[in-house]
Amino acid sequence: MKRNAMYPGTFDPITNGHHDLVRRAASIFDRVIVAIAANPNKVPMFPLDARVDLARRVLQDVPNVDVVGYSGLTVEFARKNNVSVVIRGLRAVSDFEFEFQLANMSSHLAREIETVFMTPQEQFTFISSTLIREIAVLGGDVGEFVHPIVEAELKKQRRV
Ligand SMILES: Nc1ncnc2c1ncn2[C@@H]1O[C@H](COP(=O)(O)OP(=O)(O)OP(=O)(O)O)[C@@H](O)[C@H]1O
Ligand SMILES: [Mg+2]
Repeated sequence: MKRNAMYPGTFDPITNGHHDLVRRAASIFDRVIVAIAANPNKVPMFPLDARVDLARRVLQDVPNVDVVGYSGLTVEFARKNNVSVVIRGLRAVSDFEFEFQLANMSSHLAREIETVFMTPQEQFTFISSTLIREIAVLGGDVGEFVHPIVEAELKKQRRV
């Protein structure tokens, strides 16, 4: 049986930490759907179509990966796309509390869905989209943490 997984998130924007997780998940599962949430209550820096476009371009070196945007419940997306595994990343203990709550809630909403946690390689543990956005807006160098395509887009957001 083919095993598909989805990796949901905001990806605002996609970082080298996300990329590392996708690459490793793609070596475990037959197909990985990177599902980018519209997430209107997070007020993203990049609109959904830009986040999808950036992720597609950054992940084009990973063959069994699809990138799609979605709105609505993650469990509904999983059901509609016949996905029973949701991948989430755990960087540090600080991620644990929210991720644990989210995984429990999703298994209450949809019993058939399993959440699988992956940890990044250690050089990616401190990377978050929030920090990358903050550094970029203030004119800092984020070239070490994101793909050059993303770096170029972030440069346009510089405010100082
Ligand atoms: N560097 C990383 N290593 C491992 N997992 C990560 C990393 N960055 C994000 N993730 C995980 O990827 C999933 C989607 O994350 P999300 O899109 O919220 O990115 P984020 O970096 O946490 O962004 P934000 O700071 O905007 O919340 C979450 O499970 C998150 O824990
Ligand atoms: Mg996050």
